[in-house]
Amino acid sequence: MGHSVVCVDIDENKILALKSGTVPFFEPHLSELVVQEQARGRLSYTSDASEGLCKAEAVFIAVGTPPDEFGGVNMSAFWSAVDGVAQFIEYDSVLIIKSTVPIGTNSAVREKLPNSISVASNPEFLREGRAIKDFFHPDRIVAGVSDERSKSVIENLYSQTQAQLFFMSPESAELVKYASNAFLATKISYINEIANLAERVGADIRDVALAVGEDKRIGKDFLNAGIGYGGSCFPKDISALHYMAGENGCDFTLLASVIDVNNKQRERFVQKIISDLGVLEGRNIAVWGLAFKNGTDDIRESAAIDIVVKCLEHGANVCVFDPKAMENAYRSVGSSVAFAKTALDAVVRADALVVATEWPEFALQDFDEVKNRMRGNKIYDGRNILSNLKLNDKGFEYYGVGIK
Ligand code: UDX
Repeated sequence: MGHSVVCVDIDENKILALKSGTVPFFEPHLSELVVQEQARGRLSYTSDASEGLCKAEAVFIAVGTPPDEFGGVNMSAFWSAVDGVAQFIEYDSVLIIKSTVPIGTNSAVREKLPNSISVASNPEFLREGRAIKDFFHPDRIVAGVSDERSKSVIENLYSQTQAQLFFMSPESAELVKYASNAFLATKISYINEIANLAERVGADIRDVALAVGEDKRIGKDFLNAGIGYGGSCFPKDISALHYMAGENGCDFTLLASVIDVNNKQRERFVQKIISDLGVLEGRNIAVWGLAFKNGTDDIRESAAIDIVVKCLEHGANVCVFDPKAMENAYRSVGSSVAFAKTALDAVVRADALVVATEWPEFALQDFDEVKNRMRGNKIYDGRNILSNLKLNDKGFEYYGVGIK
């Protein structure tokens, strides 16, 4: 957007890697963009906060806020970042909180800092795998401000985007983030419940979701039934909102159900496989997909990993393939599973194939060859991405979620 950006992190290895142009995770087109902006001299990295913060008109805090052991938010990295910033931030800077933080955090930060420093909330809505597109073309920009200076700095920061800016109180902005994620997760659990019913009554969730989504009041997105949501945001944010509601005397029963449905959806899927195969002990299961969704190498809270672990617990031999998430998965389930070089290699002598991540390339495989290589003929598609391929006609027993 034309600004000069200095990134500060206490992890010196990360800074060194970034300086040499290495982004420590997979995000489409991010490496190219980062290298390009570095070469232009607009993007630099340091682990020295004093260097990074001096002369900054705006300072974003974007550290992780993982769940704590009680279902709330672990704010330790956040507060140490605030302490670090407080030491070096310039007199007239605006401190902008990008991290997803419990409601009331902005005002707590304001109390810690001198009055000369403005504090604003600017929650992030971008999706992994589409981060750059979402950043440049957001549906909206939300800013929680309590003074004119923050408002004008944020207006300037985003003057290059077409998106509408919504200014509101910091508390409202903090709540918008949780409310948005929780609503999207609710849509997923809702359509998964409808899918489970569809299976029982002989309906097809793909037709149902399509027609339901055509109602503009409902919307088409986030109605893909499957094994449920994962990732670094939904699970933790939905739990945190549920926890915060409870702390504030609101019994948010809907969210408890959203979480419950999501957990059961994975279990239900594995139970289906067990009931078909009789027993998993000694069976060969091929799993396509490990990332929590396509377009990323992130396996945090991944339903795919959960399903791999459940199959292992039931004694199956598991062979996995993912286009991007193999290294991360190796760190998580490394010694217990076999890692295949290709999707086709993963299915060799498999009794069943499980599709656990919605990578579009899985639908482009040669299924005659898949059939030749497998020992069995069952395919369990946890994302319904093979549902149009008429795999039953090729001799498979195909099972999708919510498809008869
Ligand atoms: C999410 C929010 O979408 C984003 O706005 C916020 O900033 C961060 O959290 P992300 O975690 O990248 O983004 O993933 P998202 O694309 O929302 O998908 C989350 C999960 O829901 C994935 O596991 C995906 O497989 C699942 N999903 C999504 C479904 O099961 N069905 C759907 O229809 C859509």
